[in-house]
Amino acid sequence: MIIINKNLTGGKVMADEKMSRRDFLLYAMGGWAAVGVGGVLYAMYKTWEPLPEVKAQATVSFDISTVQPGELKVVSWRGKPVFVLRRTPDMTQCKDRSVKDEYTVVMGICTHLGCIPNWEADKKIWHCPCHGGEYDACGKNIFGPPPRPLDVPPFKIQGSTIVLGEEGPEYKQMKEKGLTT
Ligand code: FES
Repeated sequence: MIIINKNLTGGKVMADEKMSRRDFLLYAMGGWAAVGVGGVLYAMYKTWEPLPEVKAQATVSFDISTVQPGELKVVSWRGKPVFVLRRTPDMTQCKDRSVKDEYTVVMGICTHLGCIPNWEADKKIWHCPCHGGEYDACGKNIFGPPPRPLDVPPFKIQGSTIVLGEEGPEYKQMKEKGLTT
């Protein structure tokens, strides 16, 4: 009886040892796996995180006071043209789509199929060379196939500087009213 008990006790000890060794290995493997997954996720994050120069290109600052009355300047933002027009009293007026006072700031991309419209200073309209679409000095579509006005890019006003790519309160108000597209 005593021998059997010893064997039973020894067997239990061995089983406990096996269990604890197996548990240890499982925990160790789990720990290494967690470290590995964490490392992979961090590497992916660093890969996807935009480079500093790309981040800098995400916003563009432009002093709109440098635009003379009646003049159009084209600013490049994220590789796309943005029209900055300083309207004169003889042009179509549009307080609701002005980024500030007499300034129209719109994407220079036709809302029909993406061509770049030309500013026709004599007619005071943008004319799209692809299918003849036309926009007034506020960027509103007035003729041809364009289905909607020229888009207003996200912007923030800081004094006489406009920051393209940031949503300031003026832009948010326009957006709420559905005036940015
Ligand atoms: Fe401008 Fe068609 S792309 S009218």
